Amino acid sequence: MTKNSLTVTDNRTGKQYEIPVEDGFVRATDLRKIKMGDGDAGLLAYDPGFLNTAACRSAISYIDGDKGVLRYRGYPIEQLAEQSTFLETAYLLVYGELPSAPQLEVWIKEITHHTFIHENIKKFIDGFHHDAHPMGVFVSTVAALSTFYPEAKQIYDNEVRHTQIVRLIAKMPTLAAFAHRHSVGLPYAYPDNDLSYAGNFLNMMFKTTEVKYEVNPTLQRALDVLFILHADHEQNCSTSAMRTAGSSHPDPYTAMAAAAAALYGPLHGGANEEVLKMLREIGSKDRIPGYIERVKRGELRLMGFGHRIYKNYDPRATIIKRIADEVFSVTGKNPLIDLAVELEQIALQDDYFVSRKLYPNVDFYSGLIYEAMQIPVDMFPVLFAIGRTPGWLAQWQEMLLDKEQRIARPRQIYVGPEKRDYVPMERRK
Ligand code: ACO
Repeated sequence: MTKNSLTVTDNRTGKQYEIPVEDGFVRATDLRKIKMGDGDAGLLAYDPGFLNTAACRSAISYIDGDKGVLRYRGYPIEQLAEQSTFLETAYLLVYGELPSAPQLEVWIKEITHHTFIHENIKKFIDGFHHDAHPMGVFVSTVAALSTFYPEAKQIYDNEVRHTQIVRLIAKMPTLAAFAHRHSVGLPYAYPDNDLSYAGNFLNMMFKTTEVKYEVNPTLQRALDVLFILHADHEQNCSTSAMRTAGSSHPDPYTAMAAAAAALYGPLHGGANEEVLKMLREIGSKDRIPGYIERVKRGELRLMGFGHRIYKNYDPRATIIKRIADEVFSVTGKNPLIDLAVELEQIALQDDYFVSRKLYPNVDFYSGLIYEAMQIPVDMFPVLFAIGRTPGWLAQWQEMLLDKEQRIARPRQIYVGPEKRDYVPMERRK
């Protein structure tokens, strides 16, 4: 008869333990009963970078990294990118089901109604130096929003939580566009609530003297799809930051500032910015082999390549490649695309990348599209943050409502000095 358990023999003591296996996992706390003796606190699971540790059960996104599959709430990313809109996908992520027509109408109305930010927020943005990185401005102003909505601390009140979710999704494009306008010295362009979510973002980014900003439908749809593709990605670095910060129960603005800060780094959401810098540094096709050699010598990483979970083509990268063609038909071709395609082809034939299963990730091509749309390179991580907002919020809410979750507090293996006595200054060497 098969048993859903492991029988573990501790060769240090000869003792045997029965560890239950549930749904393909063992509980790390079950290891604690494996002890050398009474004074022993029990075995710990050691997993720097959480390579093989699940921190939650989640019903939001599903990834099969070997097959290159991504689904939100069961729906394949390809179908959502083809048929859904960002706001509908946001509803799906947050509430678990696709909305009915009236539900979607209310949701869009609510989000559109909350796109404005308090005038005082503009004063914070004004205070940043003119060349401040927009992601720094974004992280700080998201945190600052918490001071405007003190009721947001009532995280277990469903209605209050819903309002903050709506506010955060609604205000992110406004904060992002204002951060950009400040960095280029342009007056802020206020939200236009006649426009779609993506259309309004383009309006706030690019409106100048015209009375009404005219949105290009192809660019609007491309941006909307890019937001869909970035909307959630299970327990990535920034989502884990959202859950970890959120587990001490601050308001969601503060928790989301932590998530956005985690996104900023070049190994995560900052990678799209780094890809563009890398392609510019390479400059021409004949320099690709030399660059690849440097990567293989370990001098640098090929930005936009590799992923902790995908060991196959990132399905989002496939969709992005298609959108790139649509965008370039409007904007003209980004000359760096040929370089990127060639770099991908050379890398995917090289044993270094093949043996490590390193494929282009979502960030390899997204920057080329943003750049063709005249979005400055330092705004790329901010765009990622706009897209990821519903995912962060859905995961935060799921964490709060999950009875098994507690404050996130990993253990450590202490490797510092043994107890020693304080040495007064005059006796120190
Ligand atoms: N270029 C060159 N080599 C790489 C790359 C890369 N982009 N990524 C991984 N490797 C190599 C590592 O050197 C390592 O080789 P080794 O076994 O000889 O030491 C092996 O592949 C495994 O790499 P790890 O760093 O252990 O993989 P990990 O899962 O920790 O890192 C990460 C994943 C951070 C995404 C990594 O692939 C990377 O740095 N990529 C570049 C940055 C990037 O594009 N980030 C965006 C990720 S997607 C997102 O956040 C939206």
